[in-house]
Amino acid sequence: MSRYTGIIEAYRNRMPLAPGARAISLGEGRTPLIRLENLPRLEGVEAEIYVKFEGLNPTGSFKDRGMTVAVTQAVYEGSRAIICASTGNTSAAAAAYAARAGIKAFVLIPEGKIALGKLAQAVVHGATVVQIRGNFDDGMQLVKEVAETAPVAIVNSINPYRLQGQKTAAFEIVEALGRAPDFHCLPVGNAGNITAHWIGYSESAGLETAACAAYPDSWDFTGFGSVRKRPRMVGYQAAGSAPFLRGGPVKNPETVATAIRIGNPQSWDLAWKVHEESQGWFDELEDAEILATQRLLAETEGVFCEPASASSLAGALRDLKQCKIPAGSTVVCTLTGNGMKDPDVILKDGLTGLVQVDAERGAVERALLERLG
Ligand code: F0G
Repeated sequence: MSRYTGIIEAYRNRMPLAPGARAISLGEGRTPLIRLENLPRLEGVEAEIYVKFEGLNPTGSFKDRGMTVAVTQAVYEGSRAIICASTGNTSAAAAAYAARAGIKAFVLIPEGKIALGKLAQAVVHGATVVQIRGNFDDGMQLVKEVAETAPVAIVNSINPYRLQGQKTAAFEIVEALGRAPDFHCLPVGNAGNITAHWIGYSESAGLETAACAAYPDSWDFTGFGSVRKRPRMVGYQAAGSAPFLRGGPVKNPETVATAIRIGNPQSWDLAWKVHEESQGWFDELEDAEILATQRLLAETEGVFCEPASASSLAGALRDLKQCKIPAGSTVVCTLTGNGMKDPDVILKDGLTGLVQVDAERGAVERALLERLG
């Protein structure tokens, strides 16, 4: 067994990178595909539900898959600095991979609207954190303007190399299941990840996709097909930040799921192509549903994802109950980020399960016995 060294080396022949490009990696990828055992039964749904726990990547989100490729290419092209706008996870990944590459990172984040753990990550990795008095969409616009003149490479998902890395999540799922699932559910913010997954599934099936408009250059990916079909792609947005459900950009997006607090997705057209080609759909979820599912998953399966990530499962469960997803289907939900990044959202609900007792055996025993039932 050789040492696992990340998605670029694992899928080098499927990456449009120059052979001589040195991989900037932190060993991202190979995340577990966990079959839910308790939750479907408790919820009364009959389906094979798997969660792809992307929160177990090096910086705790799926962004690492994209960032390793984007930073590798940026360094190969001679960039000394990268820049992104972010709701938190991209900034954490950009900061870490820039540190690894020995280059500078500049991250624009909406002031007061990113989870504390993500802010700490950007800081600890030495990025310059620019807090803007505005939202992600404002930040994205500014990044595009600034990069016109400043010598910085954009590493948001408008950078095509990002999607090339993120497509590998679909490769891993196909390898683990031996086929594509019937449905793939995931949260949608800037809409890059749903596009990346679709590209990955399309490559796995050796099928063309209009989403390859996102490719860096003419790249023939049709020679890799190992499975016959692709899943239907289902994307969920938070109700207060659901431009795909409103049919146009949302000016002041709001949601507790700050990772997907985005009103003007950059991969708008690509995501709608995915919608059409895969015969999937978009839907929206209330914050309360998202948080309840985050808790349910943590309490019944031992998997702690962040709120945005829980929207994939919340949506899948609802669609299963409403038979939009037929019983007996195989469903994969991407859990995009780690719950530990955003402790505030759990703690502000009050600390359930905390008990204070004197530091003596009898008191501790009583506390246990009362709860063992
Ligand atoms: N889930 C999490 C945890 C995210 O951080 C993001 C996006 C998404 C889902 C949505 O993915 O944008 O590809 O549709 N976060 C970006 C960021 C915007 O800046 O970290 P998408």
